[in-house]
Amino acid sequence: MKVLSIINLKGGVAKTISSVNMAHILATLHGRRVLLIDNDKQGNASKILNRHSYDKPGVAEIMTDRNIKTAAVIQHTDYARLDIITANMNLLKANLEVLLDQQRPQQTRFKRALAQVADSYDFCIIDNAPDINISTINALVASNDVMIPVTIDDFALDGLAELKEQIDNTREDLNPALRFCGCFVTQYDRTNEADQQGEEYLKALQDYPVFQTHIRRTGKIKPSTFAREPIIVYSSRCGASYDYKRLVEEYLKM
Ligand SMILES: Nc1ncnc2c1ncn2[C@@H]1O[C@H](COP(=O)(O)OP(=O)(O)OP(=O)(O)O)[C@@H](O)[C@H]1O
Ligand SMILES: [Mg+2]
Repeated sequence: MKVLSIINLKGGVAKTISSVNMAHILATLHGRRVLLIDNDKQGNASKILNRHSYDKPGVAEIMTDRNIKTAAVIQHTDYARLDIITANMNLLKANLEVLLDQQRPQQTRFKRALAQVADSYDFCIIDNAPDINISTINALVASNDVMIPVTIDDFALDGLAELKEQIDNTREDLNPALRFCGCFVTQYDRTNEADQQGEEYLKALQDYPVFQTHIRRTGKIKPSTFAREPIIVYSSRCGASYDYKRLVEEYLKM
């Protein structure tokens, strides 16, 4: 099982939209067995896939329960080969509990839990919160790959240096195999010159690898979240559907 973290310290850059749609495309168009982990107390990925609740265990229990049976925390979604570990506000308390627990290692809980299901999935995609906290560190420690969605604005590069440092530190200390696959531009507006120039600037900087594929801004994305549907289900012909399919192909070719 390959574990991919989608992460950025910035909010609203399409981490969740990208995680859900990449996971759904890998499962439905590429026939891969995919586990999506919602690693954000906002629970947006769980909501989009219609699984948000307080009745079932989820990522909070992965963080805190010593004897966790990972399979018991996984739920099927409405889509073939796509399963999810959900999140809700309980993750906030769980993260605090982990930080106060000096008995067990704090950073390897995802890694231990995922080892139990490594043969059941081809990919695990982790949708992270816009933060570095103990559960995002757990995600990086458990990951093979990292991708960073960015939107082009005045503040596009904010936090990228800090995040890169966190990735480098995690690689050095805890996870030598961690690969930074690169940034990809989301919510790209081709009628806006600033977006074109911003993407070119990011590529020219050469501080960070940048995916060739960008995800176009489309009016279909927001209603797809209200409809609780992945974008290729909601609007198979919109720009973002086409772009997310290309992004997954580019990632698979790496
Ligand atoms: N390609 C797109 N076109 C138009 N709107 C988009 C696109 N991608 C994302 N959005 C919108 O941008 C907003 C933020 O997306 P999303 O929730 O995925 O970001 P996020 O990085 O996960 O945010 P947070 O940091 O709060 O977790 C949402 O309202 C979403 O509908
Ligand atoms: Mg999100």
